[in-house]
Amino acid sequence: MDKRERERPRVVLGVSGGIAAYKACELLRRLTESGHDVRVVPTASALHFVGEATWSALSGNPATTEVWESVHEVPHVRIGQAADLVVVAPATADLLAKAAHGLADDLLTNTLLTARCPVVFAPAMHTEMWENPATQENVATLRRRGALVIDPAVGRLTGVDTGKGRFPDPAAIFEFCRRVLARGPRAAEQDLAGRHVVVSAGGTREPLDPVRYLGNRSSGKQGYALAGTAAARGARVTLVAGNTELPDPAGVDVIHIGTARQLHEAVLKAAADADAVVMAAAVADFRPAVYTTGKIKKVDGQEPEPVSLVRNPDILAELSAERARPGQLVVGFAAETDDVLANGRAKLARKGCDLLVVNEVGETKAFGSDGNEAVILAADGTETPVPYGPKEALAETVWDLVAPRLAETRP
Ligand code: CTP
Repeated sequence: MDKRERERPRVVLGVSGGIAAYKACELLRRLTESGHDVRVVPTASALHFVGEATWSALSGNPATTEVWESVHEVPHVRIGQAADLVVVAPATADLLAKAAHGLADDLLTNTLLTARCPVVFAPAMHTEMWENPATQENVATLRRRGALVIDPAVGRLTGVDTGKGRFPDPAAIFEFCRRVLARGPRAAEQDLAGRHVVVSAGGTREPLDPVRYLGNRSSGKQGYALAGTAAARGARVTLVAGNTELPDPAGVDVIHIGTARQLHEAVLKAAADADAVVMAAAVADFRPAVYTTGKIKKVDGQEPEPVSLVRNPDILAELSAERARPGQLVVGFAAETDDVLANGRAKLARKGCDLLVVNEVGETKAFGSDGNEAVILAADGTETPVPYGPKEALAETVWDLVAPRLAETRP
């Protein structure tokens, strides 16, 4: 094996016996095409849905189910030991139960016992099975032990039923895995496990009439990066998303809103039991004083009516002043064009939040791009500069500052 080969991150894709096994083929494809060395370990039931030939052809590796094949290579130990990430997708109720109880009656369950790397489960099953207390307790046990269990999506299930239990979009599961792997040696350290974090993202739109609105250029990328990285660090995440083109991240509870007042209501509700709230949304400070129910028409020979504006609630200031629970951490963002640091410091004091991520914006800076540069100001006087880099790196630094502060107040 040459060096380039060895440098490819090794992923074990465990597949258990659910109809969503066919969607795991797309996850496999994305993993291999992005340079991962993937070994598929299906259960015997999974092979009823998708055969061995598909798994081995798509992965370029043998896809074995039992511990009795190639015994001289000790696969029941080696595969788990060598992995950088194990992802079980779909994970059935039966597989979750076996994993929670440490059963090891096939190659996949053996691999789960020997893996020392991060383990991600993407459950998919009928709503009744997901909500059954037995499944819920198994999920809680796995999470307590450090596994990352992605909550299933809500939507169409096998047959005509709909509900919670749907396999999340394979592209979103891939993103989740990519984020976990990107954390490198820190991936196993889930310092936000057991925490509920609320993140707002994207821009609000304030309607003037049924077809027009006042909006802003926020892409939502920074807020989505914060939500995705928090989930990869084990948090339960509620993402309150303003208008953005971005797909919903896997395992994150996404609430879509339009206006600042809808954002206000959704954030306050989600914040009631949150450990931390991060306001990355670009909230309109003002909205048109009057909403015209019919389309505003031009009238020949007449000047247009001026648009008068009224203030929207300042959500960050309100969250900071009235903490929903003791020790709740509130983080704000400040987009500044001039006197960036001085304005940032003044804003931190004015808003009363614990951390303020200050970045410089302009025609070509921050909005819509994949990178960001910032200084994170803390109420205790510390300043953390974050050099230009991916928005995910800034998101990680925000959580690096949040996690120890949370541990101080509520270990
Ligand atoms: N924010 C908010 N509610 C608003 C406006 C802003 O919660 N009505 C939050 C944003 O999500 C961000 C922070 O406040 O976290 C800073 O927003 P920014 O627009 O940069 O600051 P402003 O308070 O609007 O100050 P100014 O317009 O003077 O720059």
